[in-house]
Amino acid sequence: MTQQILLTGHVLTTTGDPFADPDAVQIHAGHGVLIEGSRIVATGPADRLRAHAPQAEVHDHGSHLILPGFVDAHVHYPQTAIIASWGKRLIDWLNTYTFPEESRFGDAEYAAQVSESYLDLALAHGTTTMCSFATIHPASVDAFFEAAATRDMRVVAGKTCMDRNAPDSLRDTAQSAYDDSKALLTRWHGKGRAHYAITPRFSPTSTPEQLAALGALWAEHPDCLMQTHLSEQVDEIAWVRDLYPQARDYLDTYEAHGLLGARGVYGHAIHMEPREVDRLAEVGAAVVHCPTSNTFIGSGLMDLAGLAARGIAVGLATDTGGGSSFSMLRTMAAAYEIGQLRGTPLHARHLLWLATAGSARSLHLQDRIGTLAPGYEADICVLDLASTPAIAQRAANVSDIWEAVFATIMMGDDRAVAQVWVNGRAVAR
Ligand code: GUN
Ligand code: ZN
Repeated sequence: MTQQILLTGHVLTTTGDPFADPDAVQIHAGHGVLIEGSRIVATGPADRLRAHAPQAEVHDHGSHLILPGFVDAHVHYPQTAIIASWGKRLIDWLNTYTFPEESRFGDAEYAAQVSESYLDLALAHGTTTMCSFATIHPASVDAFFEAAATRDMRVVAGKTCMDRNAPDSLRDTAQSAYDDSKALLTRWHGKGRAHYAITPRFSPTSTPEQLAALGALWAEHPDCLMQTHLSEQVDEIAWVRDLYPQARDYLDTYEAHGLLGARGVYGHAIHMEPREVDRLAEVGAAVVHCPTSNTFIGSGLMDLAGLAARGIAVGLATDTGGGSSFSMLRTMAAAYEIGQLRGTPLHARHLLWLATAGSARSLHLQDRIGTLAPGYEADICVLDLASTPAIAQRAANVSDIWEAVFATIMMGDDRAVAQVWVNGRAVAR
């Protein structure tokens, strides 16, 4: 019989969307998570699980919080080495920092090195799944999926497609974007824990012909996700209007080319027209909140509460390296701060849900990851709620567990990550 593993401590449970029902996310003291192989087989009071599985290897985490591994719904792993680059807004930031760095990923060895470095940083921060843009180079996609497979991680990624408004070294064509993406999704989609996302970078760097080619590819492979950017900065939106004079709005540049659908994942989505919000809600598409990026690059304050109230699936993301952190704790803190500026503060239960089950739902992975319940994959993060002297003194002065959790969300970093499990195996630290 497979060795069972029992983790005990405070356990985060999720039975639904806390934006619809605040009671859907709870923390239970003295509970446990029983793992067999790569799966969670039981959750509940620790005593009951011990009696039920007397042979299990027990890891008692005391007052630590056991929660699903974080799910980062929008990152650019190739921007790992240029995170925290100073002083530019979106278009200048892309041209000055991002494109020169992404040009280096034609070198498969460099792509492999950054993939490994990025994934190890993500795991050290408790992130077990992410949805990443690669670069235009197919080798950058292979490198990422290979490094993720070595770590047994459930990941989503795709070749970034650009056939205009980018340097020569970073342009493909409508046809090569279609052909390369098709070859990559055939190679990787559904292989082990890998998922392919068709990935036009954003409308300014694709011709209408390229968007149409990728729309056709998505129609041929409707079980793939499609990820891109939407309405991130005001200047960008004006540029889109110039480039696509027939479009009703930014979202229409995608919609007109077969790139709007329920499996569409639209990053940022800050400055939207009412029609865009209506269409996203109608088709059941997801948007991704990237709060550290939205302040760092100076993009704006996304209306997360408003979009969630419309029933739009919202994921949460670092947007490495436009975002300024690899940490989903820091990302939750930034989401809280933006909520404050908008007059809609989020409770810790909303923040934790966004960083786990909410992001998983935005990627259509909610039946496999993002929740600690029987049948789910054992991707788990254990948080120390007193990881630094500053947090510990605050945690010693709380009236309930949520206050302690909130202090770690606001002040915690990778030092709070006590243990990470990926597909039932502990990550070596
Ligand atoms: N829009 C198009 N490309 C990018 C990118 O790499 N990062 C961010 N933040 N926005 C984008
Ligand atoms: Zn992005």
